[in-house]
Amino acid sequence: MRLGVCYYPEHWPEDWWADDARRMAEMGLSRVRIGEFAWSRIEPEPGRFEWGWLDRAIETLHGAGLGIIMGTPTATPPKWLVDSMPDMVALDAEGQARKFGSRRHYCFSHSGYAAEAARIVRAMAERYGEHPSIVAWQTDNEYGCHDTVQSFSDAARDAFRHWLAAKYGEVAALNAAWGNVFWSMDYRSFEEIDLPNLTVTEANPAHWLDFRRFSSDQVVAFNRMQADILRAASPGRDIVHNFMGFFTEFDHHAVGRDLDIASWDSYPLGFLEQFWFSDDEKRAYLRQGHPDIAAFHHDLYRGCTSGGRWSVMEQQPGPVNWARFNPAPLPGMVRLWTLEAMAHGAEMVSYFRWRQFPHAQEQMHAGLLRPDRIDDVGAHEVRQAAADIAAIGAVGDPPKSVALIWSYESAWVTDIQPQGKGFSALRLAFEFHSALRSLALDIDILPPDAELDGYKMVVIPCLPIVSEALVERLAAFDGPILIGPRTGSKTAHFAIPPGLPPGDLQRLIPIKVTRVESLRDGVGLAGENGGLVRWCEHIEAPFDPETAATDGQGLVWRHGTVRYLAGWPDTRLLFNLCTRVAHDAGLATIVLPEGLRVRRTRNHVFAFNYGLAQVALPEALQTDQAIVADRSLAPTECCVFGK
Ligand code: GAL
Repeated sequence: MRLGVCYYPEHWPEDWWADDARRMAEMGLSRVRIGEFAWSRIEPEPGRFEWGWLDRAIETLHGAGLGIIMGTPTATPPKWLVDSMPDMVALDAEGQARKFGSRRHYCFSHSGYAAEAARIVRAMAERYGEHPSIVAWQTDNEYGCHDTVQSFSDAARDAFRHWLAAKYGEVAALNAAWGNVFWSMDYRSFEEIDLPNLTVTEANPAHWLDFRRFSSDQVVAFNRMQADILRAASPGRDIVHNFMGFFTEFDHHAVGRDLDIASWDSYPLGFLEQFWFSDDEKRAYLRQGHPDIAAFHHDLYRGCTSGGRWSVMEQQPGPVNWARFNPAPLPGMVRLWTLEAMAHGAEMVSYFRWRQFPHAQEQMHAGLLRPDRIDDVGAHEVRQAAADIAAIGAVGDPPKSVALIWSYESAWVTDIQPQGKGFSALRLAFEFHSALRSLALDIDILPPDAELDGYKMVVIPCLPIVSEALVERLAAFDGPILIGPRTGSKTAHFAIPPGLPPGDLQRLIPIKVTRVESLRDGVGLAGENGGLVRWCEHIEAPFDPETAATDGQGLVWRHGTVRYLAGWPDTRLLFNLCTRVAHDAGLATIVLPEGLRVRRTRNHVFAFNYGLAQVALPEALQTDQAIVADRSLAPTECCVFGK
């Protein structure tokens, strides 16, 4: 695995560059990402390019032996461009323009901006496409960051109408599919259809779902436009995009089809602070991050390209600037996060950023170096990680064990219609992943169209819309299958299926969900080995439940190898259920001590201590070949065994 760093030569005096490049190489880095926000310095006036500084920066980095990942600068269109077509910015759901003055101020549907983006991408690709230093291109930067996938502009509205016309052909078909007879919402032509914002009360969920699909397709098209230009002008270089954490606004599987490598930006402490974790978890993992945050995304993005290639483009190196609170990682965590990515098969971990920049929005964000050019804590840990990586060697492909099926559309359905506070398909997928991981299992998160051959068990935490093709593949799968709540609960047009949920999955397990309830915090359905919270489903079935609550209501229903979980499980129920299913699959589970996590590769077993106490490594995980560290792990420590 390689190490890299995000670098902005345009931020620093030119006479620092050579020293920076030398220190990067000395630290064990071999990749450097540049360029992704530099449009105003590359083209300061329309059509006047200043390549000189970038040519010299590339030569300097190349001279130090670094391979360059060149970012296209389309996330930061310059002021002159915005002024030349002011309607290129997105409008938010309130109809307000999202102005110049930060970044991502563009609407994916604006054809004038798309042409300008193509122009700058082509100019860069033609200049540097065949330069020997360029190993990869990053398209744009974090599509969707700062809530920028959806735009409620005129350009988006017009493009949405075209998209609907292409999908439905006749407006009568759309009226029928959306159920527009309800509340007299029928349309007479596609031209009458508006965007679903600013309605008096909620818009039709089918309208929203199509708008979410459309918005996602706009991102896919924008990315494909760039990928096509880059592939033609820069043959043999990898195309990569940097995805985000806990982000579901567009279909990453669809974008991934146009990429060689899916990368993502890993900020475990920021994500712990910003997302749904309890106060206890936030306190316990304040400086380490929840033990499953990074792993969940590693397992997710590995499934986002056909070849399974993935990397970490931005790794948190110290405190960030953007969460509610921004603690420093415990010393050792930057190294641990690096090795966790290696254990999951990353090709590269690259740190954000080389040096803290004393100006502008991110002046409080740490780098590997302090603003005074002295090594910060992260730099020392990178050196250690580089030595560890060399000692460990190649890890080989991860083993096939548990397949967890996930679709972005699932998140759109539960966002549009939570039907109870806190119901999120993403969170439920994370909780399943976390339970499986705390049993020392290895997980691949796969799209619904993935092949399941070779896996030992399949888990579907929450997939409201299930295709015929997936039902076929599940019917042919011979291991145990665990299906979670709301799976099969909607048709592709956001209606309740005619035979009631779980729809076509009734072929696998003959049950009907006749009623659902969402429950406020603190209320639930208790069972002997755990129960349900937040959501519970009433089931009609020709057989008794496998597990029932103390009042007799079914919690888990089983038919042959297929189980259906009738609600949102509490931690205990989920843990017990995953143990049972893994046992049926012939997979050995280990109840890991608090904070300890394990990942196997073809050649190694890795273990990581995210907790605050020393833990002994369970015997079952140890082999004779200890490569890194001991069998008893201090906080932030990891150990690696050869198999
Ligand atoms: C990422 C982004 C970077 C930088 C970083 C700060 O979301 O891609 O450009 O802003 O966050 O943590």
